[in-house]
Amino acid sequence: MTNAELERMVDTTDEWIKARTGISERHIAAEGETTCDMAEQAARRAMEAANVSLDQIDLIIIGTTTPDVIFPSTACLLQKKLDIHGCPAFDIQAVCTGFIYALTIAEKFIQTGSAKTALVIGAETMSRIIDWTDRSTCVLFGDGAGAVILQAGDEPGILSSHIYADGEYEDLLNVPAGISHNSERFKDGTAFVEMQGNEVFKVAVNTLGRIVDETLAHNKLGKKDIDWLVPHQANTRIISATAKKLDMPMNKVVLTVDKHGNTSAASVPLALDTAVRDGRIKRGDTLLLEAFGGGFTWGATLINY
Ligand code: ACO
Repeated sequence: MTNAELERMVDTTDEWIKARTGISERHIAAEGETTCDMAEQAARRAMEAANVSLDQIDLIIIGTTTPDVIFPSTACLLQKKLDIHGCPAFDIQAVCTGFIYALTIAEKFIQTGSAKTALVIGAETMSRIIDWTDRSTCVLFGDGAGAVILQAGDEPGILSSHIYADGEYEDLLNVPAGISHNSERFKDGTAFVEMQGNEVFKVAVNTLGRIVDETLAHNKLGKKDIDWLVPHQANTRIISATAKKLDMPMNKVVLTVDKHGNTSAASVPLALDTAVRDGRIKRGDTLLLEAFGGGFTWGATLINY
């Protein structure tokens, strides 16, 4: 869906959207296409790229805020689609930080020897919780899925992970309806993302600046040691502020927000996949992944790819 299509739906312009967010287009799931459908495609492509077979997968974690149904979890639905049986499979709900949370948990399973080959996915159908008449939110989001395979090895791939949350900020970004609270809003058709965008913006910039510093300090690394920043794709202005904090030129930052919009938990793995497949990210590169989202939640992962 291009900005031009949105111009026909709400009072907005391509210029406003590009200038404030950097977004030119986003993908919307087809009618009937679910988060799990997209997760399956991402999972199969990740397994193919990693040369890993279905019988090797012993853990499935999906970061999602838009599961197909309340239960079973999207991870269990995916397990069925993939014809995998028995391994633990569960969803993690940390909104835009969902993939970083999922990766961090999978890493702990691998470190403790509880899993050897984990399938870690970020997948979302944000379009289903967007008010398509609200110009302040509908121009921002998109649908998608990305996946990685995380495997036990002799050399550390994930150098460190740092995840946080502060529920104090609930009011700035939420969907204020669910099963045990305001469930009538689903029937009314008013269960949508609500956001105080400029307030979220300020906290996001400050928090991401702090977490990238913390990640570098934890690993006793300097800014020059990072080869690629793979940030959550919410807004180019937030991403450039983080890059500036790291003294990184924008050609060392993976940017996909122009093509994908904000796909919440799917955004970091989609960006990672893009830069790995187009050859920018190479084996041995040091990658800094970071994200910030509803909750608030935030996190960063430093990877030796
Ligand atoms: N088209 C045209 N005008 C618009 C639109 C639009 N689509 N949306 C809002 N405006 C108007 C507003 O009404 C306002 O008009 P006014 O000055 O007459 O009142 C003006 O534009 C400025 O609005 P702001 O909200 O102050 O604009 P801002 O520069 O803050 O940009 C944005 C808005 C893009 C949402 C930005 O604040 C942002 O990116 N915030 C962070 C979003 C984010 O990172 N979220 C976290 C992750 S999301 C998740 O976790 C699910």
